[in-house]
Amino acid sequence: MANHFRSTERQGSGGDGMRLVPPSENIVSNVPDIEPVENADEPQTPAATENAPEAVHVVTASDPADSTSEQERPYTSVFASLAGNDAPVTPHTGTPTISFKSVTLIYPAQPNKPALEDVSLDIYPGEFVFVVGHSGSGKSSLLRLITCERRATSGQVLVAGQDLTKLKNKKVPYLRRQIGTVYQDFKLLPDKTVYENVAFALECIGKPRAVINVQVPEVLRLVGLAEKQDNYPDQLSGGEQQRVSVARAMVNRPPLLICDEPTGNLDPAISLGIMKLLDRINREGTTVVMATHDREMVDSMRKRVIALEAGHVVRDQEKGGYGYYGAL
Ligand SMILES: Nc1ncnc2c1ncn2[C@@H]1O[C@H](COP(=O)(O)OP(=O)(O)OP(=O)(O)O)[C@@H](O)[C@H]1O
Ligand SMILES: [Mg+2]
Repeated sequence: MANHFRSTERQGSGGDGMRLVPPSENIVSNVPDIEPVENADEPQTPAATENAPEAVHVVTASDPADSTSEQERPYTSVFASLAGNDAPVTPHTGTPTISFKSVTLIYPAQPNKPALEDVSLDIYPGEFVFVVGHSGSGKSSLLRLITCERRATSGQVLVAGQDLTKLKNKKVPYLRRQIGTVYQDFKLLPDKTVYENVAFALECIGKPRAVINVQVPEVLRLVGLAEKQDNYPDQLSGGEQQRVSVARAMVNRPPLLICDEPTGNLDPAISLGIMKLLDRINREGTTVVMATHDREMVDSMRKRVIALEAGHVVRDQEKGGYGYYGAL
């Protein structure tokens, strides 16, 4: 997992020099290796943005969780087939993908109540990190600092070694091309088909039609929606809509995926399909940071957990659980 990002010249049209490079970028053209998610959000198998960047780091051919038989799985929940306790811990070496150094964020509307206060943390290439905490604890605010939707009031936010507190506004779009985003409410364009919604992310950054014609079908196959490419969002289930938004976030192959409660509007069985998709994307090298209230999912995944309470990090734990905030 060395050299997960480096500073290079931009790719595609327009850019400023900063670029995160995912470890699997060089498999971009390796389309046959991409394994689609099968019926990822169908309820009958309960066990079972404009931003965007270049390379599909998706599904591994061998998924250890999936290769375990039902009888061998020591879980009872519908999330049993996810990574579980055997998920490897990503080494904290090299330059962090994300680094917060004593970061405070104060919204002008609440000058006396920092949304985040003196937050320091490092997230390394290839990690999958859950951000948990009560409503209002600062999860979305933390994510907004990473995507540069908000600027820190004090402290430093570094993404790929670049200080976002000093990043010029005109360079923000180039940062965002390196970061896929998935939100609770999907944010799909209702008048565009599945294909057009995903293609739009590439059109917005000036990708040529030839590239779009290759990458869109590829990513739709990845999320298991190739058959529905001509459907409109209102013809899709919630889980399918969220898979479109994951496809849109991943179509330009960003090395960093930021998810703010991506399963917040979905029932547990459908959430499982989305989580399996995000887990597989992460296993191929994409760093994933996900805010969630989904206790069962966090407890079953055993990923790194960063817990916030009133704008402070109160827990940062490898293979953590959701936790009980009264006891924190
Ligand atoms: N635009 C804003 N203006 C003023 N205050 C804000 C703004 N956005 C968030 N806040 C405040 O910042 C704090 C953290 O909010 P944030 O949205 O980050 O919480 P959260 O953990 O994501 O909550 P939830 O789980 O409900 O999504 C809260 O006190 C909230 O009221
Ligand atoms: Mg939030």
